[in-house]
Amino acid sequence: MNTQQIIKWLKEQDSHKLDQLWQQADRSRYEHVGNQVHLRGLIEISNHCSRQCQYCGIQAGNRSLQRYRMTMDEILTCALQAQELGYGTVVLQAGEDFGLTTEWITKLIYKIKTKTALAITLSLGERNDSELRKWQQAGADRYLLRFETSDSELFHRIHPGHANKISDRFAILETLNQLGYETGSGVMIGIPGQTYDSLANDLLQFQKINLDMIGVGPFIPHPASPLGKQHANLNEKNNPDPNQVPNTELMTYKVVALTRLLCPQTNIPSTTALASLNQNNGRELGLQRGANVVMPNLTPLQYRKLYEIYPAKACLQEKPDDFHKHLINRITELGRTIGLGRGDSPHFKAKKKDNVTRFTLRRKTPTPKIMQRQVRRD
Ligand code: 5AD
Repeated sequence: MNTQQIIKWLKEQDSHKLDQLWQQADRSRYEHVGNQVHLRGLIEISNHCSRQCQYCGIQAGNRSLQRYRMTMDEILTCALQAQELGYGTVVLQAGEDFGLTTEWITKLIYKIKTKTALAITLSLGERNDSELRKWQQAGADRYLLRFETSDSELFHRIHPGHANKISDRFAILETLNQLGYETGSGVMIGIPGQTYDSLANDLLQFQKINLDMIGVGPFIPHPASPLGKQHANLNEKNNPDPNQVPNTELMTYKVVALTRLLCPQTNIPSTTALASLNQNNGRELGLQRGANVVMPNLTPLQYRKLYEIYPAKACLQEKPDDFHKHLINRITELGRTIGLGRGDSPHFKAKKKDNVTRFTLRRKTPTPKIMQRQVRRD
């Protein structure tokens, strides 16, 4: 699919044609990642943040927000709960909180790995290479870092630099890939200033940078954030700029479906942001239009309401046990099954196999010295 074809789908309004898109995406999902829906227990371990992301409710500039950082024991209790509920993975997410030191996170990873068989996904923002390496060596399996938009002008506008640091999320994603993490990224849909061209380019970037997991969700204005104060929702009707992507539920399904078609072997969550736009069945429709992962929230309720990156998050009232039962029913009603085991993406498994093969080939058959000389001469 090229840029023009992607844009055509993004602008498509004909419901019969869109039905074809949903069907194609669902077929591709079934063929490449099967019928299992993998559940990841999300633990929002701290809402401290040193950044000023213009869209986000927990950014440093929001002085009225009460901040928390969970203790190691509290996090371990949640991880054990994830294991009891049968989940294969916990996702440890936080603002970009340097109070979560390299050593502390390392210790946390060791503890979770000692006490459970869970895969660990980290989502801790832009961290440096050496800590990413240490965490991977300590046992972290996956890392999520959305690049949010591939339009670098827009990216820098909504992510002011800090401490003389210029963000380069593509460089960090490359490092994560090289370190052997299963690597996830994604974008927000309908950021003020995001055009169809740039969203189509985002989708092509997913393919290009070799991602294993891709999460997309609508931009939801947060009244305590600069962008949220300036912009109401940009739907198809009240949108003054024809190039502006609307932050709608429909646009989110289109991007989920196109992501599945472009990156068929990746794991794609049906996100909480999407479920927040349609609390009735947004999560289910995401699963029927390309997604194969759900991330139930396991953050203790007293902290969860303080992790308000956008308002009216669908998970605010979801108690882990009740929600779990509800989710299992809904997934079963869709004719799908609950994922067993860690649920690595086929894309990652293939990548790992490929690396191992290349690695062993290189080690088993070192180029003889004589040939090396020949190669140099050539
Ligand atoms: N609306 C939608 N998504 C948001 N995120 C942060 N703030 C918002 C918002 N206002 C998303 C970002 C981030 C992820 C953890 O949450 O894409 O990467």
